[in-house]
Amino acid sequence: MQAKYLNKATDLAKNFISRVVSKDDTVIDATVGNGNDTLFLCELVGEGGRVIGFDIQDEAITKTKKKLMERNMLSRAKLINTGHENLKEYVNTSVSAIMFNLGYLPGNSHKITTKSHTTLTAIKQGLDLLDKKGLMTIAIYPGHPEGAKEKERLLEFLTAIDQKEANVLKMEFINQINNPPLLVAIEKK
Ligand SMILES: C[S@@+](CC[C@H](N)C(=O)[O-])C[C@H]1O[C@@H](n2cnc3c(N)ncnc32)[C@H](O)[C@@H]1O
Repeated sequence: MQAKYLNKATDLAKNFISRVVSKDDTVIDATVGNGNDTLFLCELVGEGGRVIGFDIQDEAITKTKKKLMERNMLSRAKLINTGHENLKEYVNTSVSAIMFNLGYLPGNSHKITTKSHTTLTAIKQGLDLLDKKGLMTIAIYPGHPEGAKEKERLLEFLTAIDQKEANVLKMEFINQINNPPLLVAIEKK
């Protein structure tokens, strides 16, 4: 049975993000996937806002475009079929929020997954683009080998962020079996 508030790292992420994003903001979805987060962000920024989304899978971009079109929100999004490690090549404005939902596309090949090296590059670029008081969320899935490596490398980097620059919070389910997902939220000072 589902609990009411503490089910998933992605729900926690949305909860935080909804507190910082305002109408007309520009925000980034660093891993578009099935487009659920992109849609959520499009709703938050409204008609005057912009969601810039990245995914290496053409299928993810196509599916998400369709999802947004059906809801008449495609004009709020710019979806880019490239890796988030190229963030700065495509985004030249500051943003109020960035969502990373790491791992692989549920139901698709587990081989096409985020990797610690490129994720780290993207996080660093994203932190440069983030507004003061802006928020970055990172949902990490250590239940598969690449995800376990990613968790270790990311936490090493995130733990060392100067507390004068940002507050970095790690949330994890401590009574769940099989390496449950965790969420890191970063608020820039
Ligand atoms: C867990 S899914 C994202 C779920 C999505 N946010 C949603 O709401 O449905 C992870 C996605 O990251 C994508 N991905 C993997 N490596 C990437 C990279 N370097 N840059 C951008 N996306 C990447 C995968 O193709 C996959 O679609």
